[in-house]
Amino acid sequence: FTVDWDAAAAEKGGFDSFMAKEIHDQPAAVADTLLGRADAEGRLTLDELRIDPEELKGISKIIVLACGTSAYAGSVAKYAIESWCRIPVEVELSHEFRYREPIVDEKTLIVSISQSGETMDTLMAVRYAKEQGAKTLSICNTNGSTIPRESDAVLYTHAGPEIAVASTKAFLAQITATYILGLYLAHLRGNLFTGQIKDILADLGKIPAKIQDILDRGDEIKDLAVSMAENQSVLFLGRHVGYPVAMEGALKLKEIAYIHAEGFAAGELKHGPIALIDDGQPVFVVVPSPRGRDSLHAKVVSNIQEVRARGAKTLVIAEEGDEAVKQYAEFVFYVPETPTLLMPLLATVPLQIFACELATAKGFDVDQPRNLAKSVTVE
Ligand code: G6P
Repeated sequence: FTVDWDAAAAEKGGFDSFMAKEIHDQPAAVADTLLGRADAEGRLTLDELRIDPEELKGISKIIVLACGTSAYAGSVAKYAIESWCRIPVEVELSHEFRYREPIVDEKTLIVSISQSGETMDTLMAVRYAKEQGAKTLSICNTNGSTIPRESDAVLYTHAGPEIAVASTKAFLAQITATYILGLYLAHLRGNLFTGQIKDILADLGKIPAKIQDILDRGDEIKDLAVSMAENQSVLFLGRHVGYPVAMEGALKLKEIAYIHAEGFAAGELKHGPIALIDDGQPVFVVVPSPRGRDSLHAKVVSNIQEVRARGAKTLVIAEEGDEAVKQYAEFVFYVPETPTLLMPLLATVPLQIFACELATAKGFDVDQPRNLAKSVTVE
């Protein structure tokens, strides 16, 4: 009696690719990254941080350094940390940071974000910042890798090993970790009350089940992706936290489907990108919650109308219950309700599925895209 057993297939857990598996690992990646960080009272315990809380209290600005998908996690984090902590947050690509004359001092906290912990550009940027006297904190998915070893402090993401070159579960885990850091700083500096932190942590705790709900409806996205396999260009629009989500959606498509894809801030549309729109141009729009403040929802809905009037095929990611977008959309995918700042943890998922399914439909190896490496250890 023999059993046919394919080790590679077993590792993929029944999925066609590591990327598909890792997209489905995301409820666990977020849950595991949250695990053990707070007690029942909402008090955060970041023992592993290895940095004096008094020093953290005194920082005057944060600079996030990262590359690729990790840099978009940083861009998402900027919205949350500035809102919760009232500390200025700059997000900079590691390779750009080093070659200008950045203003860094002992009151600067450098937060590097790296899945691998080995990206040379980020490592060199962290070293440079350390030399200038900054405090360095690494958000990393790989225990004992170089960047956390060389940093003053570390906050590990617990996404588990990420094999596919294009990052998915590490991205959601990175956002989660930056949010824990943001809440911790807000607590230290007295910007948020314990009750507020507890509420946000409770909302974060509900994210894994909401991601699962999206994954369970993945076929809606798959059908769309398969129908669009012949498209040559896809645009992505977003505003506020939806902007880095749009950038990440475009990056995924470039990386694995080799399709021209661009992400834009929706407000920038009228300053240039709208000239790209002609008949049949697919445009994904990440729509903010209609329950949010600042009338952002209305502004983005009017962006959908503007591109549609010029012939765009509008593909909308919106919050459950947002009926207003339906009339302007060729396709709507609803994500569960969540506070605006947490929305990227949900809205990114359908865009990852879209890229993965489209590239798979084209017959590409989504785990090993051409010309790319998982970890870039050269400058
Ligand atoms: C490479 C990978 C990307 C990743 C980037 C940063 O370009 O292909 O998926 O986002 O490096 O990697 P890191 O390990 O520093 O997060």
